[in-house]
This record gives sequence, C-alpha cells and structure tokens, in this order.
Amino acid sequence: MKFWIGIALMGMGVLAGALARAEPAQLDRQLCASCHGADGNGPGPAPRLAGQQAGYIEQQWQAFRLHQRADGGAHGAAMAALKSEGGIKALAAYFAAQPPAPARPAGGDPALLAAGRKLYAEGNLAVGTPPCFSCHGDRGEGGSAAPRLAGQHAAYLARRMRVSDAPQPDSAMEMQEILKTMSADDIKALLAYLATL
Ligand code: HEC
Ligand code: HEC
Repeated sequence: MKFWIGIALMGMGVLAGALARAEPAQLDRQLCASCHGADGNGPGPAPRLAGQQAGYIEQQWQAFRLHQRADGGAHGAAMAALKSEGGIKALAAYFAAQPPAPARPAGGDPALLAAGRKLYAEGNLAVGTPPCFSCHGDRGEGGSAAPRLAGQHAAYLARRMRVSDAPQPDSAMEMQEILKTMSADDIKALLAYLATL
C-alpha cells in the first residue's frame, strides 16, 4: 500500500489550473502513466488499460472512488486531482482508443491450452460455468457488459480469477458467482488460453 501511494505521489507535482486545460493524453501522463503506462500498455503489475472498454474503466473508477473495490490506495492521489474535472470520461475514451497489446504466440502445454480454449468457447454447463465468450467476446475484446481480457498481464488476470473476500462492487458479483463454479484446473487452463489472446 505504501509503495503505491509513494509512486502515486511522485506523479503529483501538477497544478490544478494546468489539469483543467489538459488533454486526455496529458492527463494520462500526469496521473496514470506512472503505473498504467503512457498509452495504457504499462509493464505491470498495474493492469493494462489500452483497448479496455470505456464503460468498464468509468465503472471501476467509480467503484474505487466509493471504496467498493479495493486498490491498496493506488488511486487516492489521482482521484484528488481529477475530482472537479470530470476527466475520467475523457480518459476512459482515450484508453479505449489506444491499440491493445498484440496477441501472443501460444506456448506451453497444448492439452492445457486446448482445455482452456474449450472452456472459453463452451463453458461447462454441467457445473454451471457459462462460456466466457458470451460476455468477453470471441477474442477477449470485451463488450458493453464485460471487460477486455486480451492483452492483459497474466499475473493480473490470475489475481482477478480468484473468488475474493475483498470489497467488490455489485457489478462484480456475476463474475464472482461464475468463478465459484470452476475448479483450480479449469482456472489454470483458462489462464493458459487467455495468455495467448
Ligand atoms: C500508483 C499506481 C496507479 C496509478 C497512478 C493509477 N492506477 Fe489504476 N490501477 C493501479 C493498480 C495497482 C490497479 C489494480 C488494482 C487491484 O485490483 O488491486 C489499478 C486498476 C485500475 C483499473 C481497473 C482495471 C481493470 O482491468 O479492472 C482502472 C480502470 C484504473 N486503474 C484506472 C486508472 C486511471 C484512469 C488512472 C489515472 C487517472 C489510474 N488508474 C492511476 C495502479 C494505479
Ligand atoms: C455473464 C457475463 C460474463 C461471463 C459469462 C464471464 N464473465 Fe468475466 N466478467 C464479467 C464482468 C461483468 C466482469 C467485471 C467484473 C467487475 O465489475 O469487477 C468480469 C471480469 C472478469 C475478469 C477480470 C478482468 C479485469 O480486467 O479485472 C476476468 C479475468 C474474467 N472476467 C474472466 C472470465 C472467464 C475466464 C470467463 C469464462 C469462464 C468469464 N469471465 C465469464 C462478466 C462475465
């Protein structure tokens, strides 16, 4: 937590007047890039935002703001700076328009990958796991109701593919229920497949 606050404060030498005039790309550089990268394709551990669904970015921002989603204090300083600007809408559109990281070559265990691909496309209806593509899109590009998964850091996806007892917004409950239907092997297979998108 201290680590994130420290990084956040480093980016904060910004005057409110300058912020009010800033373009989204500038806002990103001033408030987000230290963790998410100048084009939303940062090196991690913070998630990539490039190509992410704009509605999802705005929704998660509100969840962080209302402390419905935990972030270890990572967004406190950026929130304070953006408060009166209404800038999150512009930033969300900006990140959504950035080219996402390209698809990655499939490596690793082919059987695991095939199992993950099958679960993504078909789910496992016997235990109540719906097909992922129905919300996250054929290629993990996301949709109005669900975030982009393609191009995301594998370690971040692994962390988000766990049933969590941390604070969650209502919007997270559907995905939490889906995660409860899956075995550790299912999740391993899905992560192997998602790493190729
Ligand atoms: C100090 C580092 C830091 C800064 C600065 C920062 N973030 Fe984040 N952000 C994070 C971390 C870490 C997470 C992951 C939180 C978690 O799940 O634990 C995150 C997650 C997010 C998410 C959720 C993404 C997803 O896939 O679920 C959004 C949206 C987001 N940040 C937007 C922003 C925007 C917009 C800015 C600039 C106005 C910003 N962040 C500035 C560290 C930062
Ligand atoms: C009914 C729609 C739906 C289905 C089906 C679905 N998801 Fe999701 N998923 C969501 C929503 C909505 C969210 C955003 C949750 C939130 O607001 O925190 C999400 C979030 C996620 C995240 C976190 C992404 C991030 O950037 O933080 C991952 C990873 C994920 N889903 C993987 C999967 C996988 C793998 C499957 C298939 C087993 C799947 N989802 C099926 C709706 C769905």
